[in-house]
Amino acid sequence: MSRNAPRTFYEFFAGGGMARLGLGEAWTCVFANDFDPVKSATYRANFADAADHFRQGDVWKLEAADLPGRADLAWASSPCQDFSLAGARAGLTGGRSSAFFGFWRLMEALASEGRAPRTIVIENVCGLLTSGGDFTALCAALADQGYRFGALEIDAARFLPQSRPRVFVVATLDPVPAALTGDSPFQTRLVREAQARLPAELAARWIWWRGAAPAARNSDLASLLEPDDAVTWHTPARTQALIALMAPLHRARLDALQASGQRAVGGLFRRMRVEHGVRVQRAEARFDGLAGCLRTPRGGSSRQTLVVIDAGEVRSRLLSPREGARLMGLPETYQLPKAATSALHVIGDGVAAPAVRWLAANILEPLLEGAPAVLAAE
Ligand SMILES: C[S@@+](CC[C@H](N)C(=O)[O-])C[C@H]1O[C@@H](n2cnc3c(N)ncnc32)[C@H](O)[C@@H]1O
Repeated sequence: MSRNAPRTFYEFFAGGGMARLGLGEAWTCVFANDFDPVKSATYRANFADAADHFRQGDVWKLEAADLPGRADLAWASSPCQDFSLAGARAGLTGGRSSAFFGFWRLMEALASEGRAPRTIVIENVCGLLTSGGDFTALCAALADQGYRFGALEIDAARFLPQSRPRVFVVATLDPVPAALTGDSPFQTRLVREAQARLPAELAARWIWWRGAAPAARNSDLASLLEPDDAVTWHTPARTQALIALMAPLHRARLDALQASGQRAVGGLFRRMRVEHGVRVQRAEARFDGLAGCLRTPRGGSSRQTLVVIDAGEVRSRLLSPREGARLMGLPETYQLPKAATSALHVIGDGVAAPAVRWLAANILEPLLEGAPAVLAAE
């Protein structure tokens, strides 16, 4: 079954529309939603057709009637607070009040009208896989509506110089071509352990999604940065204050790089650590060519600092929003909010566009096209 019509999708929790950017031009967004004013403005600024399909507001206020037709895909990057290891872990089992269930009741309503999306992707932090009964609750919700499903843990670092592991649950009502099942580099230990914890009736609906290993990444953090003379650097005193916050191991690594005389670029975050029973603030830098995971800025310490060591000199500065956008795989033309904190908020909450593209090319598009060798559908 080959098709010429564009593939259609709904994008819930759309933020700055990064799932849409990853899906690409061959997909048509027929509905998108987010309740955050800055995210909504960013979405509108980047997608000329937003007036046709973007609805700003709480997902709980939407009705099935707001969603046109029957979509090939519903994408939901629901807020990570539902599952985040860093958050309170209220989780899905905390009740049906979470934003996720605001989305899910729409999927149930569509199904009751015979308009269930053919595929659903739920993207979230990897805490979803380990969050008590939440992963099971999610799989049970999918199973109740007749979906079969499987999860992949995709780290944006496979495509971009940013460490950003995320889980993507891909669910389908369609028959699954045999060619789409098998091994994938993204069936990680966390995924396998989460699958192994499922009760038998849910495990029976599991799909081990297959996919080719992506080509080797051809960029590192340094390659995405602005030229040294085009940015504002911290004062030497501020850089020294950061270095003073380093634990001995981190400090020794910095000293060694400094002594080497070579250029090295690292991403640094300040974190609270408990040492000898006392909470202390530490500056932790990595020099493996990757930025640390971009986060939603909540106060100064959650913004990533860059440390550049060159010819024995150490300098530091904040990562710019544009550099952050590059670390998410966004095009240079992507319009960011003017205020840096707002821009970093949009970016830090987003999904890395190349990870979405990989999923679309390896699973979603072949699945929706259908393929000759088809496993028996349930
Ligand atoms: C993890 S972010 C997803 C961002 C998006 N994938 C992107 O690439 O920019 C979650 C989004 O859900 C939105 N959100 C949270 N609760 C919501 C609700 N009740 N109704 C609508 N949107 C909500 C937030 O504003 C945020 O943009």
